[in-house]
Amino acid sequence: MDLSFRVNGEQWDLHVSPADVLLDVLREQVGTKGPKIGCERGDCGSCTVVIDKRSVRSCLVLAIEVDGHEVTTIEGISYEGLSQLQNLFIANNSFQCGFCAPGIVMAATELLDNNDNPTRHDVQEALAGNLCRCTGYEPIIEAVLAAAGFPEGGAS
Ligand code: FES
Ligand code: FES
Repeated sequence: MDLSFRVNGEQWDLHVSPADVLLDVLREQVGTKGPKIGCERGDCGSCTVVIDKRSVRSCLVLAIEVDGHEVTTIEGISYEGLSQLQNLFIANNSFQCGFCAPGIVMAATELLDNNDNPTRHDVQEALAGNLCRCTGYEPIIEAVLAAAGFPEGGAS
């Protein structure tokens, strides 16, 4: 099947099979390695990307479903250096191994794009689908709350 979509602002015209999942197409055909292969069944959030301003787990989306849509991965928010949110994750020592980081950054970016003033509960809820085995989550939540104090929610 023919698939036309945009990834991080760039147009892609690909041929995919009906069963191909977005995560695999992004990594293998587009070459964006930011979305990570974790559980591959929607449990861990390591594959999170944003489709048209909504964060989704790309292992649960058929590639053909994004035909005509815009997909943003972690690479897409880092073209001109790290975002304020990413810098605050670093400042707060929010990650250790970093495997969960691309997915958490994308889920938090969606939250801040849609909510200028999230509460702790809002952050916890937004990140509920993203597992981190290293940090205990507190430094991640602190960084997102800190980013909310910046213009445009620190997402840019
Ligand atoms: S790899 Fe997609 S949710 Fe775990
Ligand atoms: S920093 Fe290791 S899984 Fe989150």
